[in-house]
Amino acid sequence: MRIAVLVSGSGTNLQALIDASSRGELGPAQLCLVVSNRPGVRALERAADAGLANLVINHRNHDTRRAFEDALLEALEANGIEAVILAGFMRILSPFFVEKFENRILNTHPALCPSFPGINAPQQAITAGVKVSGCTVHFVDTGVDTGPIIFQEAVEVSPIDTAETLHARIQNLEHRLLPRATKLLAAGSLRVQEGIVSQHP
Ligand code: GAR
Repeated sequence: MRIAVLVSGSGTNLQALIDASSRGELGPAQLCLVVSNRPGVRALERAADAGLANLVINHRNHDTRRAFEDALLEALEANGIEAVILAGFMRILSPFFVEKFENRILNTHPALCPSFPGINAPQQAITAGVKVSGCTVHFVDTGVDTGPIIFQEAVEVSPIDTAETLHARIQNLEHRLLPRATKLLAAGSLRVQEGIVSQHP
């Protein structure tokens, strides 16, 4: 299955996918394209270092979300992309885009969904005073960080945690779970029924 990874920033989750792929741990998932909506980000360097096709589709160069997504879809189609992984991609995708890839878009979010959607989830967790947070890998639907949940894992929040220290521990989980979910998706092992994900060998 031909996969595109969408990024906006440092790309540690992209790196985890690249590393899993080079260890042969992504099954039939083939990383074919990396697209960033922001120029000059570290994720693009990681893609180039790994020899992956990569390009920038800058949302600022498009007047509307629809025009941005049209450009994105064109790039995905030109590369024969069958599924999309959001790895720190910080743009909301409209129903128009999501419906084109129904149950073929995965996202990782640094909180236990449905808690703390959107940006700065680790800071949101600290501000709320929760004692446990974690990461969620899920299918993307038309909401923000909603959608059928594939994996969740928890970490304890310590009284001395900052958003940065908490996020770093959560990212360790993401780096393990996102490649696993990608492999299952590509292998056709994930079913979604009434918003619930089940795994089929
Ligand atoms: C990840 O922790 C991901 O969960 C988060 O952005 C980070 C990107 O890190 N995504 C969201 O908050 C989506 N709402 P990375 O660029 O190093 O992979």
